[in-house]
Amino acid sequence: MTVTILNHSLVKHKLTNIRKKDTKTRDFYQNVSEIAGLMAYEISRDFPLRKVEIETPICKSEQYELAQDVVIVPILRAGLGMVDGIRGMIPTAKVGFIGLYRNEETLEPVEYYAKFPDTMPNSIVLLVDPMLATGGSAIAAVDMLKKRGCKDIRYVGLVGAPQGVEAMQKAHPDVDIYLASLDEKLNENGYIVPGLGDCGDRLFGTK
Ligand code: PRP
Ligand code: URA
Repeated sequence: MTVTILNHSLVKHKLTNIRKKDTKTRDFYQNVSEIAGLMAYEISRDFPLRKVEIETPICKSEQYELAQDVVIVPILRAGLGMVDGIRGMIPTAKVGFIGLYRNEETLEPVEYYAKFPDTMPNSIVLLVDPMLATGGSAIAAVDMLKKRGCKDIRYVGLVGAPQGVEAMQKAHPDVDIYLASLDEKLNENGYIVPGLGDCGDRLFGTK
């Protein structure tokens, strides 16, 4: 299993925008979506291709297309902020949903929704959630995906804490992790430091 921190100037610039406490809902969403799109571009670099025979306006030609379905699975709510950006890069991707929230006292994830396309077991699954804090939500989400037979699962997040990365590596060593940033630590309330605050609230204007 690999942990990849995307080293890209545009990603860093947009991440700075969403870390700023004064960034408003519309700009926050826009930047999250754009970072997700840039990450999808990098992550899909090695997706398997198959040869296809096509006809251009000039002649018949052998070209390439994606060999496997891609399914984006956001963890609700905050993961929703990453879906549009990834679909912009991979418009054929299907979308499944996992509803989880962190109990604010125990920090344990609580499941409340699941809906997936039928093709999941043979697809490349991009599990998306901007924040990898204790790792509890991501670990529970991967458990849910594996129960449905998913074999190729890649976790895509924006900001991670060392504790969350370590917990994921331990629980699911077969899942590659992609982040825009690995931050310093968690604070006593389970928030990532320096982080960007409560991502769901900032995306959807609920606080
Ligand atoms: C946030 C975030 C992750 C989770 C990360 O969701 O979007 O799902 O916390 O924390 P963890 O790694 O410690 O599990 P939250 O529970 O705030 O729900 P929301 O997206 O509905 O706001
Ligand atoms: N969830 C968030 O939205 N932010 C954090 O910093 C940690 C968990």
